[in-house]
Amino acid sequence: MEKVLVLDFGGQYNQLIARRVRECNVYCEVKPYDMSLDEIRAFDPIGIIFTGGPNSVYLETSPHVDKRIFELGVPVLGICYGCQLMAHNLGGLVTEAQEDTAREYGKTHTFFDNTCRLFKGLPAEGVTWMSHGDYMARVPEGFALVAHTDACPNAAIADEKRGFYGVQYHPEVNHTEHGVDMIRNFLYEVCGAKGDWTMGDYKQTAIRTVREKVGDGKVLLALSGGVDSSVAAALLAEAVGSQLTCVFVDHGLMRLNEGDEVEAAFAKWDINFVRVNAEERFLVKLAGVAEPEHKRKIIGEEFIRVFEQEAKKIGKVDFLAQGTIYPDVIESGKGDAAVIKSHHNVGGLPDYVDFKEIIEPLRMLFKDEVRQLGRELGLPEYLVMRQPFPGPGLGIRVIGDVTKEKLDILRQADFIFRDEIARAHLEGTMNQYFAVLTNTRSVGVMGDGRTYDYTVALRSVSTSDFMTADWVRIPYDVLDAVSVRIVNEVPGVNRIVYDITSKPPATIEWE
Ligand code: XMP
Repeated sequence: MEKVLVLDFGGQYNQLIARRVRECNVYCEVKPYDMSLDEIRAFDPIGIIFTGGPNSVYLETSPHVDKRIFELGVPVLGICYGCQLMAHNLGGLVTEAQEDTAREYGKTHTFFDNTCRLFKGLPAEGVTWMSHGDYMARVPEGFALVAHTDACPNAAIADEKRGFYGVQYHPEVNHTEHGVDMIRNFLYEVCGAKGDWTMGDYKQTAIRTVREKVGDGKVLLALSGGVDSSVAAALLAEAVGSQLTCVFVDHGLMRLNEGDEVEAAFAKWDINFVRVNAEERFLVKLAGVAEPEHKRKIIGEEFIRVFEQEAKKIGKVDFLAQGTIYPDVIESGKGDAAVIKSHHNVGGLPDYVDFKEIIEPLRMLFKDEVRQLGRELGLPEYLVMRQPFPGPGLGIRVIGDVTKEKLDILRQADFIFRDEIARAHLEGTMNQYFAVLTNTRSVGVMGDGRTYDYTVALRSVSTSDFMTADWVRIPYDVLDAVSVRIVNEVPGVNRIVYDITSKPPATIEWE
């Protein structure tokens, strides 16, 4: 398989660059900038991309590369800091931009030289996203200026002969028009990529690899019902069938029908599927507990205890599987470290389970690739496209103490909200949407009688990173339909409010 190496200099968009490359059907990995020359040779990339970064190349303390990287005969694309680093190493001069010259930030109108392979077939001008305070005062010998802006004569530089390209702007962000096409040109026109990275192929390779590794051993997986663990389960099921045991802890804090849906999705495989209905256990532990962090802790711990009990029944297993995905790997620092990360939905690694080795079949995949793989494996769309759902489930969406009665109310209200969003075809306009059962009760009137019932809050946000989020402007008539239905269909609720707070200052969840 052809591979591209993305060397990370600490830029905020490192993962985005890698995703863009993969979207172009070329496999790539993000590695720390100090990867040794021998390791790079062994990796055998068809092209190298230097990411941006927050530093200035002329400072000794900034991240640098072994200059011999430019003698490997491998094309290089430098982005922002990466561009300056290349210029700095090959005899150019990078300095701090003066106020009145080329410090640029934001959307910038840019002109391109279409005879350059990077811009082949693309418009001669357009918007790029700039974010740099340093400036290439002199470009290295052999390089041509292939793009400029009003403020900056060298928005992009190219040495076509050696296949070295540098861009001051960020082609990987959406604000740059045709940015992905520029990356595609680098991959196909410069590096000669053929594009052999597809999820169909990945599925076959991953199945083969798992089979080879597992042999006739036993595999255990904690299945939460989330996208990652479900796709990991499907892949393992396809690879090793009955050697796999999935333990699905149903803590009773799932949404309506969720447990059954998860179970049904795995019915077609001949695996050992253990569903532990632990609702009562969780509710007993949660009784009377109102403080959110305390609830989280109880749920996380209880999850482990239940899983432990089931695992003990199975006895010794050879492999413990986890649904770790690539962003977890990159974020944890070094891509090659054997990170044993607590699964976000489990809350801690069950270290008491007697196993030889961990397997993480999704370790090199981004979330959108995981979803694609799930489709390839025949998982239903509602599982593959499932929105994020917190590990503690509805336990942190019932405000205050949790009871079965309140959970049932919330489950119905939440279902109606999701149902109406689906009927209005609005799922694509929001990243997370759910109902919250507040602990406020208020007076209402229904029929001829007085009611004193709960208030349900609806929350819907759009976000790309879940670190910041905006509330979604859901059309009034859709909100109205949700409100009417919940109040009519769900006993115990007489008032609906819509949360119009962004994050920050509010968080996405209420607890
Ligand atoms: P907040 O509420 O912090 O949520 O704005 C950001 C994202 O994280 C999810 N979330 C959780 N996920 N365990 C999880 O697995 C948790 O305890 C938890 N709390 C919040 C939340 O749903 C949103 O997607």
